[in-house]
Amino acid sequence: MLFARILGAGAGGGLPQWNCGCSNCDLARRGKIPHQTQSSVAVSADGASWAILNASPDIRAQIAASPYLHPTGPRQTPLRSVLLTNGDIDHVAGLLSLREGQTFTLYATGEILDVLDANPIFTALAADKVTRKAVAIGVETEVAPGLTAELFFVPGKAPLYVEGANPVTDLIGEQTVGVQLRAGDVHAFYIPGCAAVTPDIAARVRGAPLVFFDGTLWRDDEMLVEGVGTKTGKRMGHISMSGPDGAIAAFAGLGVARRVFVHLNNTNPVLRPDSDERAQAVAAGWEIGADGMEIAI
Ligand code: MLT
Ligand code: MN
Ligand code: ZN
Repeated sequence: MLFARILGAGAGGGLPQWNCGCSNCDLARRGKIPHQTQSSVAVSADGASWAILNASPDIRAQIAASPYLHPTGPRQTPLRSVLLTNGDIDHVAGLLSLREGQTFTLYATGEILDVLDANPIFTALAADKVTRKAVAIGVETEVAPGLTAELFFVPGKAPLYVEGANPVTDLIGEQTVGVQLRAGDVHAFYIPGCAAVTPDIAARVRGAPLVFFDGTLWRDDEMLVEGVGTKTGKRMGHISMSGPDGAIAAFAGLGVARRVFVHLNNTNPVLRPDSDERAQAVAAGWEIGADGMEIAI
């Protein structure tokens, strides 16, 4: 069995985002649509030991809200490891909340570990407690008992805080990766940031039982249209859900049994239960991730 619990279905900022008064954030603040915390999924093969994929700034509340992740004794936790898919703040800042002298393994590509190593604040995770292990692309690593993860390249960009003036936004390299999980004879994918569904990615996910995929934006110019920013999805290294180059079109015909959007930006209209866009995504066979959603395959 492979168990997954979405700890946070939101993108960076969450829903509502602290400084945002867009229509979705306003609805969330008024209790009209559910809040979503920032991007993270917990996975397990046995329901007893867990790996967390990306450590969001909301991790403390996410663990508190997830009974499986509660301590089993004084300073004993079911958390065995944290695996990172990129170095973005929404995926690494939660590491700082995991400092309290707890033993676990931190897995990421060498390049992402370099970004952490360059920042002294992460020495709060003492090296004798938190072992940082570089994971090579294409090599299966056991991240919890009976559960392996294999990283693969997906197009993306360097973290915002190190990207420089004119970043390549669909770079194939160690800065952004997808995860192929395997437990016994089942497998699943976790790809929360992805600039495009390349032929390689399409071939890899074809026929999969479960894929969690980048659902940042419905449309590329969504943040401009909502008046909350000047960046397109492409500039941020995120594919859109809709459109001829979008994720919904790219996955059509790939035979993926369960397709679940995660890393949903607060501007995304699919976050409104009654939106046309949500209905379109659902009609195309997609599920919209939400905090606390659990899937077992
Ligand atoms: C992203 O997914 O594009 C990043 O999380 C942006 C950010 O760091 O705020
Ligand atoms: Mn993000
Ligand atoms: Zn907003």
